[in-house]
Amino acid sequence: MASDSKVWHPYTPGIGGKEILIDRGEGAYLITKEGRRIFDGISSWWVNLHGHGHPVIAQAIARQAEKLEQVVFAGFTHEPAEELAAGVLKFLPPGFSRVFYTDNGSTAVEVAIKMALQFFHLCGEKRSKILALENSYHGDTFGAMAVGARGPFSAAFQDWLFDVEFILPRYTNPKGSEEGLEKAIRLLETGTVAAIIAEPLVQGAGGMLMYDAGWLDELFATARKYGTKIIADEVFTGFYRTGTPFASSRLSVLPDLICLSKGLTGGFLPLGITACREEISKPFYQADYGHTLYHGHSFTANPLACAASLASLGLLQKPETTLRINRLCGLQKAFCQKVEASFPHLNPRQLGTIFALTLSPEDGLNYTHPNRALIYQYFLDKDLLVRPIGNVMYLVPPYCASESDMDRLHSEIITFLEKYA
Ligand SMILES: Cc1ncc(COP(=O)(O)O)c(C=O)c1O
Repeated sequence: MASDSKVWHPYTPGIGGKEILIDRGEGAYLITKEGRRIFDGISSWWVNLHGHGHPVIAQAIARQAEKLEQVVFAGFTHEPAEELAAGVLKFLPPGFSRVFYTDNGSTAVEVAIKMALQFFHLCGEKRSKILALENSYHGDTFGAMAVGARGPFSAAFQDWLFDVEFILPRYTNPKGSEEGLEKAIRLLETGTVAAIIAEPLVQGAGGMLMYDAGWLDELFATARKYGTKIIADEVFTGFYRTGTPFASSRLSVLPDLICLSKGLTGGFLPLGITACREEISKPFYQADYGHTLYHGHSFTANPLACAASLASLGLLQKPETTLRINRLCGLQKAFCQKVEASFPHLNPRQLGTIFALTLSPEDGLNYTHPNRALIYQYFLDKDLLVRPIGNVMYLVPPYCASESDMDRLHSEIITFLEKYA
């Protein structure tokens, strides 16, 4: 434990004081100085892909640090940023042609919203509305909070958030209704909606809620028909979390803007990307300052982060990584079926490498539910990091998790459910 700490920790009641001091990471494990090995069942807030301390990424960062650690990104560029932009565009679904760098998921979302709004401003078209999904989470900065579901995270700032229209997705488990789509169609038909933003197929922080591609395709097709710009927030779902390179890879109607972060650097360094289609960037191609996107962070396109990201992209393209991801998807799918057979009332759900269930679903999704502390402590006592979202228990392991790691994790969950579900 970190004693006499002066650190204020995020999402921690009472500011903190009881944190476990981690000394190093190795594959899917976080290790304390005393040698306690904790399995990272949530990829350290969903950022880690290949395992902690992966030598290929660590060495790429070290090499880059000896060459160029940072350079102002206005008026200057560098090879890792140029190579990464080309690499990410090749990796994305077809049609994307530009990459804008920031340094986290929230700012990738801020930039996407700004690009969409400024696009219409530059085109001289008045569109005042933004559409988002209920139960969504897009980050903690003000614009990202505004397009996220209103709840305990944003309650103190409610009066300062701009107006957004929210619609309910058609969830898969429990099955949702069509009302959200009907409301969206009515709004989109007015031609006043500038942008729609969605976490495609899985709403992470909202409770690992899953909804189907057919529903999203219909929503995006309607948006495209009426000229609304489509933003896919793939900060969580990107880089094979859902079993395909991006959740958008499962869609027939592709977005206009994609936000990436978290797994972008394999979880080693902060970096954000907002990628867009040529059509979005075109009105900005003017020499005068009036057409400039006035957004840029000090550490935009940090060379170390870009080098880490290039190394991670390289690892993602290796056949053994594909095998690992496919194995993890298969194990999570089989486990979900097992939970469904014995505990169908917990709404078990799975997509790709992600598994989730809701303990006491009759209480609804509740971030401060007492089950949160129960689940967290129960598994931590067994050296398993399973940090729930309120009463939602979920697993998002790194792709290097072994079959025996997953077997142990799954069987501990069954034992827990037999006692508490
Ligand atoms: C879908 C989604 N968008 C945006 C964010 C914000 O990312 P960051 O925490 O890097 O600002 C998150 C973080 O959990 C997220 O899940």
